[in-house]
Amino acid sequence: MKDEVENTARTALVTGGTRGIGRGICELLKERGYHVVAGYAGNVEKAEQFTTETGIQAYRWDVSDYEACQSIMAEIAKQHGPVTVLVNNAGITRDGTLRKMSYENWMDVIQTNLSSIFNMSKACWEGMIEEKFGRIVNISSINGQAGQYGQVNYCAAKAGAIGMTKAMAQEGARNGITVNAVAPGYVATDMVAAVPENVLEKIISTIPVGRLGDPLEIARAVWFLAREDSKFITGSTISINGGQHMY
Ligand code: CAA
Repeated sequence: MKDEVENTARTALVTGGTRGIGRGICELLKERGYHVVAGYAGNVEKAEQFTTETGIQAYRWDVSDYEACQSIMAEIAKQHGPVTVLVNNAGITRDGTLRKMSYENWMDVIQTNLSSIFNMSKACWEGMIEEKFGRIVNISSINGQAGQYGQVNYCAAKAGAIGMTKAMAQEGARNGITVNAVAPGYVATDMVAAVPENVLEKIISTIPVGRLGDPLEIARAVWFLAREDSKFITGSTISINGGQHMY
């Protein structure tokens, strides 16, 4: 295909990029010609291993911290050029039923999974307007679409990500910025591995293809949305969940 490897000049930033789905996205975007930079929150060992294995530079900051997002974006732009592809992938879980969920666990998930999209998108929005080009891909979740027992916080954040995507898409359109969401189902990552085994077994039994997804199966959609020629796709959500929820 003519444009499998495209514009090498574009800098793509993937938050939560050193592990799981984020790592898959980083690796695929790099392979397809982007200059990729990753963000991570705390696991230094995994981040160093990621950089050694992929050659992709990783920066450490907290995506829930508004000021930290603005200053890291300025730093990354200085070192790597303006970020015109932003993948808001960083996320955490603090599962528990509403009865048992603390206010702190509610807020941590809302701040890290939802406010982070505001923080990071704000930080690169003006630069994208200047470039007259931008691609923002927000990683939502099947659980933001369908709901999930024990995830009031996570479902709210992931559903919120879809709403934000639609509003930002309307605002960005006139400036060549597209904003889309990808809603993965259950994918083989550390996050899903933390679900109790008996609960996970039950969940897998509801996936028509009969298995967890692979990070690269999510990454392919992100790459597709990031492409130059995907410019008519904006405000949409691509569900990738093995048929578990058809939405
Ligand atoms: N529907 C209805 N009832 C359910 C239920 C469900 N899906 N899941 C559990 N229950 C019931 C149980 O049967 C139990 O009732 P009984 O005592 O009457 O049998 C009761 O709820 C309590 O269940 P637990 O013993 O599991 O309660 P807990 O407090 O120990 O744990 C929980 C609750 C933390 C929510 C646990 O069930 C859990 O971890 N669930 C998985 C949540 C999940 O899917 N997280 C996804 C993480 S991965 C991710 O988020 C990535 C992504 O985007 C897909």
